Amino acid sequence: MLIKDTSFIDKPLLAQGKVRNIYDLGDSLLLVVTDRISAFDVIFDELIPDKGRVLSSISAFWFDFTKDVIPNHVITTDVSKYPQGFDKYAAELEGRSMLVKKAQMLPAECIVRGYLEGSALKEYKANGTVGGIKMPEGMVQGDKLPEPLFTPSTKADEGHDINITYEQLVDLIGEEDASALRDASLALYKKVSEYALTKGLILADTKFEFGKIDGVLSVCDEMFTPDSSRFWDAKDYQPGRAQKSFDKQFLREWLETLDWDKTYPAPHLPQEIIDKTAEKYRECYRLLTGKEI
Ligand SMILES: Nc1ncnc2c1ncn2[C@@H]1O[C@H](COP(=O)(O)OP(=O)(O)OP(=O)(O)O)[C@@H](O)[C@H]1O
Ligand SMILES: [Mg+2]
Repeated sequence: MLIKDTSFIDKPLLAQGKVRNIYDLGDSLLLVVTDRISAFDVIFDELIPDKGRVLSSISAFWFDFTKDVIPNHVITTDVSKYPQGFDKYAAELEGRSMLVKKAQMLPAECIVRGYLEGSALKEYKANGTVGGIKMPEGMVQGDKLPEPLFTPSTKADEGHDINITYEQLVDLIGEEDASALRDASLALYKKVSEYALTKGLILADTKFEFGKIDGVLSVCDEMFTPDSSRFWDAKDYQPGRAQKSFDKQFLREWLETLDWDKTYPAPHLPQEIIDKTAEKYRECYRLLTGKEI
């Protein structure tokens, strides 16, 4: 089943992201992952089969895998345990949704970078620093950083997030929470990047969102999905050029062949690109979890 929107649910939608739809159930939230895909912040009309189930299951896998590092917001992914009235949507929601505890979110995106890419590469080229920290000279795109770095950013409601220094994070949320976020983020990255490497995947960087649940710092949102992380195929890794993103490589490469200015509306996706992209998402799930979707 392909799901583009969730208007079949007769409850008010709390928020709609590029990929997920969120329902407010009082003390809890229902996160539903659709099969929508975006690139360069533009959402496509076409859907990617199994993408929602893959993303939701990958997140669920990591929340469980890291529960000894830090508590998280998951209540259940078992549709039969959802609040009353949701049983009629079981077929649609199965495998692509998660009931979570509502948290008081902290206003920061917690990014950990192990490799030089994206905005870190831009900053390094301009200043020789990453997150304001001086890096060795002569590093090239995709190089491994001397050690993983915590590089927070603000959560912008509109437009792009703005990178901030650790000191600015302290000004924003206080020393106690800032250091707890940094320590948790680095510990999560360490555990999962080491594991991913044993499965042939490099976790170049990743983003977390944290919140307080009954006063306890907890990791929320999504975790170590291809949407929140850069995963690279370790076999193809070669610093000095852009690495192929594991999930969207076919899509991005095909888009680069078009005369498209990367603004709305998105071009129509050919079936071949849809199929290859779907297979990449399934492969990512298979490699990380050892299970078939
Ligand atoms: N347990 C939670 N309690 C409260 N809010 C949460 C929880 N988990 C995630 N959130 C919030 O839910 C929202 C999820 O939105 P989502 O990521 O789908 O869309 P977005 O961030 O607006 O856009 P994009 O698609 O670009 O990511 C975020 O604002 C996130 O902070
Ligand atoms: Mg988001």
